[in-house]
Amino acid sequence: MSNLIIIKKKIKEFDEKIEVSGDKSISIRWVLLASLSNGLSKAQNLLISEDVLAAIRVVRKLGIKVIFKKEKCIIRGEGLNGFKYKKNMTINAENSGTLGRLILGLLVNTTEAIKLTGDESLSKRDFKRISDPLTKFGAIFKLKNGKNLPLIIKGSKNLKPITYFEKRGSAQCKSSIIFAGLRTEGTTILKAKKSRNHTELMCRHLRLPISVSSKKNYDLIKVKKAKKIEPLNYKIPSDISSAAFFMVLVALSNNSKLLIKNVNINTSRIGVVIILKRMGINIKFKNKKNYKGELIADIFVSSAKKIKAINCPSKLNSGAIDEFLIIFLVAAKADGISKFKNIGELNQKESPRLKWGEKILNKMGIRTITTSNSIKIFGNPNLKINKKIIIKNYLKDHRVFMTSVIAGLTFGGTWNIHDKDSIRTSFPTFLDIVNDLKK
Ligand code: S3P
Repeated sequence: MSNLIIIKKKIKEFDEKIEVSGDKSISIRWVLLASLSNGLSKAQNLLISEDVLAAIRVVRKLGIKVIFKKEKCIIRGEGLNGFKYKKNMTINAENSGTLGRLILGLLVNTTEAIKLTGDESLSKRDFKRISDPLTKFGAIFKLKNGKNLPLIIKGSKNLKPITYFEKRGSAQCKSSIIFAGLRTEGTTILKAKKSRNHTELMCRHLRLPISVSSKKNYDLIKVKKAKKIEPLNYKIPSDISSAAFFMVLVALSNNSKLLIKNVNINTSRIGVVIILKRMGINIKFKNKKNYKGELIADIFVSSAKKIKAINCPSKLNSGAIDEFLIIFLVAAKADGISKFKNIGELNQKESPRLKWGEKILNKMGIRTITTSNSIKIFGNPNLKINKKIIIKNYLKDHRVFMTSVIAGLTFGGTWNIHDKDSIRTSFPTFLDIVNDLKK
């Protein structure tokens, strides 16, 4: 089967209800915490994507039983000390930064040296941001080039609690430190720039010894050693990062409407909604409810008559960190110049995403001024593309692929987009939903 998709036609008007896949961040956290619980945990609507399957393969390698039965994933946790560490063990986080970084927090007590590997994209990403704090707990690391995978971690029996300031707003760093704190006697104190808080909410729901006090610009998190984790049954809500592609499909289409069912709208994740609303897109939350500490709602989106440019406040960055590529497309059609600053972290993702954002926009004929940390996008409300655009060699970054598909469906032109398989990472049903909307 060809791994190339060609888009030649704009999407017609639509008015539909859809459901996108389960939340990736919550799915991976559930796999990891369930595997350390005492007994059987069941998940419904777990995201069945390569990143989550990689998490399942890793915990299986560590001796945990995972089965799939009638749409449910069942994990038999063996308790906090239930991972079986063997000599010369290698675990592979494949494409997943979340898995690679969070699992290290749980491996701080390994008696054997464990090698952590990843695919080409993950091997280019920074792991020093994790090895630095975990070294302070007492773990020992050896990293390729001092910062990359493959790395080797050897844990300690004598972990010491740490005091740490996480300044990037990285939920992966924060979560890794929380996990290590749960394995360590004493109180770990973490001052963390605000970022998605699924780990804290899941830990709180499990009554683990963690407290969070919210300050203006950061959270103060205190973690103590956990004695036991109860099994966790969880119905995973849909992923707002996947929903975002369809919000933008509506935003850039004429006279269209969409209801996206049952999406996680945790306040630390709705940056994309706030930004799109400020740009004039109509978005409403319906049927709001609380589920095990997480907020969930149906998201209603309808096309805008006019899109406004935005000078995006940096405080919205962390809540929209995975959505900037798709937001840039909206800025491409806005009336005026949009500005996004302090977004250098985008170049630390599955591909250098700020550079890819610039590249896609320029191929579309949109002018940009980009630095290593910011982008200005000169919007054109009348943009129509009449040429052929080829998207390839982007380290199979799923979000580059999906952004290009949405651009092709809304701006016109002929788009040859390679590496369709990249969607398996986070949103395997993406093209099925697109095809249903095209019918
Ligand atoms: C994630 C955190 C974010 C995000 C990633 C998922 C998580 O990364 O980009 O897709 O599940 O914790 P950073 O922690 O590097 O910001």
